[in-house]
Amino acid sequence: MGRMMTRPLPKSFHVKSFGCQMNVYDGARMAELMEAQGMREASADTAELVLLNTCHIREKAAEKVYSDIGRIARRDGGKPMIAVAGCVAQAEGAEVARRARAVDLVVGPQAYHNLPALIADAAAGRIAVDTDMPAASKFDALPGRRARGPSAFLTVQEGCDKFCTYCVVPYTRGAEVSRPWGAIVDEAKALIDGGAREVTLLGQNVNAWTGTDAQGRVQGLDGLIRVLAEMPGLARIRYTTSHPNDMADGLIAAHGDVEKLMPFLHLPVQAGSDRILKAMNRQHDVASYLRLIERVRAVRPDIAISGDYIVGFPGETDAEFEETLAVVRAIGHAQAFSFKYSPRAGTPAATMEDQVPAEVMDERLQRLQALLGEQQLAFNANTVGRTCDVLIERDGKLPGQRLGKSPWLQSVLIDGGAIGDLATVTIASAGPQSLIGVAPARVAA
Ligand code: SAH
Ligand code: SF4
Ligand code: F3S
Repeated sequence: MGRMMTRPLPKSFHVKSFGCQMNVYDGARMAELMEAQGMREASADTAELVLLNTCHIREKAAEKVYSDIGRIARRDGGKPMIAVAGCVAQAEGAEVARRARAVDLVVGPQAYHNLPALIADAAAGRIAVDTDMPAASKFDALPGRRARGPSAFLTVQEGCDKFCTYCVVPYTRGAEVSRPWGAIVDEAKALIDGGAREVTLLGQNVNAWTGTDAQGRVQGLDGLIRVLAEMPGLARIRYTTSHPNDMADGLIAAHGDVEKLMPFLHLPVQAGSDRILKAMNRQHDVASYLRLIERVRAVRPDIAISGDYIVGFPGETDAEFEETLAVVRAIGHAQAFSFKYSPRAGTPAATMEDQVPAEVMDERLQRLQALLGEQQLAFNANTVGRTCDVLIERDGKLPGQRLGKSPWLQSVLIDGGAIGDLATVTIASAGPQSLIGVAPARVAA
């Protein structure tokens, strides 16, 4: 298949990332790679190459890509080169370019270090497709990191071996791989040198990370966190996403004694019924999950607990859904994400009997989100009157206003302060989505 037309190499690019934080990270690294090729970043309306970094997790996310492609192809100023990266690219491969004729380039999450060659191919009029999962890591072939703000993502682990029966990630991201200790430490240094004050360690199962430190000792994620915590200039460490089965004792302990480790834990339980958890192949039950939360809270009582929930997994009864609500009540979330189950081709759950009707899922999701909304507001209200540090990340909407994050990952609006500062503020009021912090009493350097 070929669109024989050749064209000059694109001189500018625009990256649009969907889905999880790892896609945001990958998007930044692809941008760095194209900049290293001499291309410059531009808006979606003018860039000569528009790259969609896609997500395949639910049908809606995956289908959105095709309407986006159509819109970009018809934009004023002519059709740019269109690249599709990310998990849809991995899952559908060359099919993406067959389905959407406007697509010039398809590249998977483990192959994007090859972008320069693929762009050259596409410019030469060939449809460029690379969805290999090479043994050699893409990271070794990428240019160095550059911080873009006070808070930076850093991928330390990729892929998943858990095979939850509803999930495409083990297929789109491949097997669990931990990046080496030295590479992570070097990248963290580069980010801090570039102005990052906060680093969020990323992985599909980030707490499964394992590596060998400079002294040759085998370490888990807590060991890595402890070493990063000693780096001058770095003020905050976060990590996401964790699996309950990899929540090691050392990591729990770190929440009690590593000051720079922020009091926030995203630990999905997915559902409140042991029968459903079993059908999901989650390999943990409700009781063991609740025990973990209790242990984390014992060392860090104020920790904000986040999670993910799926409603309407095949066969889920009304009573089983009520068990999910009961678990949410037992946990008391600071925030959590919730989704209607979306059947994904190739996953075991897609062909299970008793798929739950859409109206039933709608109703369950509404009830769950109402409860989670109440909990989020209650958590936020509970911080009113407290004094805490806010890492200022960007300007707010009003003149002089800044937007930052509390230790518990809440958005806080404050007056004044510079981006990158840690401002000590007192929380004056709280809404469901954000807090107001009163004028910083003191701004730490
Ligand atoms: N451990 C991963 C999870 C990725 S998917 C991580 O790094 O974040 C994020 C969430 O999407 C999952 O926790 C799950 O709640 C939800 N999800 C995954 N597959 C789904 C599906 N087929 N339908 C609905 N929600 C799904
Ligand atoms: Fe998907 Fe389960 Fe792996 Fe998370 S642990 S990425 S939900 S298969
Ligand atoms: Fe989506 Fe892939 Fe992330 S499917 S959630 S972009 S790992």
